[in-house]
Amino acid sequence: MEIEIKNFHKNDVTSMMRIWNEAVLDGETLPQQNVLTEKDALTFFNSQTSTCIAIDKSTGVVVGLYILHPNGIGHCSHIANASYVVWSVMRHKGIGRKLVKHSLKETKRKGFRLLQFNAVVSTNIAAQKLYESMNFKRLGVLPGGYKNDSGEYIDTILYYHDLSDL
Ligand SMILES: CC(C)(COP(=O)(O)OP(=O)(O)OC[C@H]1O[C@@H](n2cnc3c(N)ncnc32)[C@H](O)[C@@H]1OP(=O)(O)O)[C@@H](O)C(=O)NCCC(=O)NCCS
Repeated sequence: MEIEIKNFHKNDVTSMMRIWNEAVLDGETLPQQNVLTEKDALTFFNSQTSTCIAIDKSTGVVVGLYILHPNGIGHCSHIANASYVVWSVMRHKGIGRKLVKHSLKETKRKGFRLLQFNAVVSTNIAAQKLYESMNFKRLGVLPGGYKNDSGEYIDTILYYHDLSDL
C-alpha cells in the first residue's frame, strides 16, 4: 500500500469527518465529545493551522488525517499541538507513523519550535508506542486527566518534541 500525505481538499471532508467521528464516538482517545456534522466539518478542518490527510494512492481513499494548531497563545504560541486519527480498519499498518513524521516537518515549516501533546490517554498504548518510537519525550502523568464516557477518570500523559533537531 502506497500512502500519500497531503493537504486536504474540500471534497475529502465527508471521508475525513467519518474517520474523525469514529474516534470521537469511541470516546477513549480524543478529548472531543461532539461529533462533527457535514455543516461544521469544513469550518473545523479549515480553522486549523494545517489539516493533512493520508490517502491510499491505489484507491484514492482517505485513510487518516491530522490537525495541527497552536497549543498556546502569546508567549507560548511557538508551541504546537496536533491530533492524529487513522481509520480503524487501517490501523497498525504504518499510516500513523507517516502522519506523525509529516506533521513534525509541517510543524517546523509553520514556524513552531515545539510540538506538545497535552493528554495522551494512558490506556492508548498504540499512541504512546508510536510517539516514544519517534523521539517524543514523556513529561509526566496527569492523574485522572481524561474522563471517559463511562465516567471513569483515566491518567493522561504529556509529551513534547523539540523541532530544532529536525
Ligand atoms: C494512534 C494511531 C493514530 C496510530 O496509527 P496507526 O496507523 O495504527 O499506527 P502505525 O501503524 O503507524 O504504528 C506505529 C506504532 O504504534 C504502535 N502500535 C500501533 N498500533 C498498535 C497496537 N494496536 N498495539 C500496540 N502498538 C501499536 C507500534 O509500536 C507501531 O510501530 P510498529 O508497527 O513498528 O511496531 C491510531 O491507533 C488511531 O487513530 N487511534 C485512535 C485515535 C488516537 O488515539 N489518536 C491519538 C490521540 S493521542
